[in-house]
Amino acid sequence: MTARKAVFIETIGCQMNVYDTERIAEGLRALGYATASSPEKADLIIANTCSVREKAEQKAFSFLGRLNRLKKSNPRLIIGVGGCVAQQEGRRILRRVPHVDLVFGTAAVDRVPAAVAKIEKNRCRIVDVAMHDGAAAPPRRCDTPMEGGVSRFVTIMRGCENYCTYCIVPLVRGSEKSRPPAAVIQEVKDLVRCGAAEVTLLGQNVNSYGRKEGLPAFSDLLEQVNAVDGLLRIRFTTSHPKDLTDELAACFGRLEKLCRHIHLPVQSGSDDVLRRMNRRYTRARYLERIALLRRICPDIAVTSDVIVGFPGETEAAFADTMDLVRQVRFDNLFAFKYSDRPGTRAAGYGNKVPEDVKSERLERLLNLQAEMTREKNENKTGAVLPVLVEGKNRKPPRTASAAVSSAGEWTGRTTCNRIVHFAGPEGVRPAGVVDVRIDKALAHSLRGRVVENAVHHHPAKGKKCHAA
Ligand code: SAH
Ligand code: SF4
Ligand code: F3S
Repeated sequence: MTARKAVFIETIGCQMNVYDTERIAEGLRALGYATASSPEKADLIIANTCSVREKAEQKAFSFLGRLNRLKKSNPRLIIGVGGCVAQQEGRRILRRVPHVDLVFGTAAVDRVPAAVAKIEKNRCRIVDVAMHDGAAAPPRRCDTPMEGGVSRFVTIMRGCENYCTYCIVPLVRGSEKSRPPAAVIQEVKDLVRCGAAEVTLLGQNVNSYGRKEGLPAFSDLLEQVNAVDGLLRIRFTTSHPKDLTDELAACFGRLEKLCRHIHLPVQSGSDDVLRRMNRRYTRARYLERIALLRRICPDIAVTSDVIVGFPGETEAAFADTMDLVRQVRFDNLFAFKYSDRPGTRAAGYGNKVPEDVKSERLERLLNLQAEMTREKNENKTGAVLPVLVEGKNRKPPRTASAAVSSAGEWTGRTTCNRIVHFAGPEGVRPAGVVDVRIDKALAHSLRGRVVENAVHHHPAKGKKCHAA
């Protein structure tokens, strides 16, 4: 009997990389590769990388550096690098990291198995960073029930052509391409058949889905996904404020499976900075879109991204961002220190903000947000919220008292995307929705218990998702 081969894939970066990693793993399965639980147990190691900030790029190279030792003890080990750093650096990676065998770009995901087969046979080194992706990606076929969990990603479009001046994504992911609705729907149905209860539709700017190709608008696609039997919840990310149409906002009022959460990156509260970022909306327009969303769906959770220390960001401009954050009261915020990315326009801008000023602004912003996140979470105590059960709480408890309360607990999410740890009676299963009474708010999650006689929905029974 031939021993099975195993692949370990390290994923760095956004959810699109998580999706691509799943596609790569599925493609490699046909070549006989099972999933390895650690790099030490693998015959093939792949780093799926991100280049959006300097730190992410460093993370990729330090992971690759650590593999040198494994390659020395096992010369037959194959090492591949994919994703956005691979696209950015191409062939240069072979020189910088001599133990790498394969470099594949962001459009080469479906060509990885063929490249690996060639390397196995010829022990050659391959670089494939061609930007065309041949025929449009076929829907992925899911044949591993529940392996990917209750909540799954579906990439509905690739690339981006917004050219925000700080951003490397258009340079490493190419121009925007949307997948046809039929392919998206087939993939969603397949995932539901394999046990998924929730899908997150992915794109760098899902709001402009299909515009270039003349496909149905994103709001129409959402309607089609909403009609998939057995699916309980729909999420999407990322939205660009400039393309958030009234029709899309209206979906939060009429599509019962659409979760009450939107991630709407603002990046800055200063009109001057927004203009120089090429974001193509103003502070006033952003606030108006938030007001519209809240009129349609008063309890919608809004999260956002902010960059601090963009070149030329003055103290007054940063104060505008702090003020906007106070005004909107986001449910959560992801804030990043600006870093130059190769080939972007902002990398050539003058008036760079010193590192210590960036750090100090970031800290002020994060402190402000932490206060609001805590308050918002505390407001949920006493509420009964429908929670989609994802699985057992596997995180090791940090304190002895947490150990007592978290033993055997379940984990899930509210429709507003808050993590809830809860105790549940017999019969609670992943992929069901249960009503949980919240009795404690923690910094990043909620804790509660299933209310007695809570109806337990399961997608297999085709039940609809709770609203709220
Ligand atoms: N397509 C999404 C975001 C993609 S990148 C959008 O348009 O919002 C994710 C986040 O990384 C961005 O929202 C931004 O806040 C941050 N980011 C991108 N480039 C950056 C850079 N050069 N420095 C710091 N943060 C950056
Ligand atoms: Fe980058 Fe802007 Fe495109 Fe988002 S919309 S991926 S920030 S260029
Ligand atoms: Fe990073 Fe590429 Fe995603 S740069 S954020 S992995 S598109």
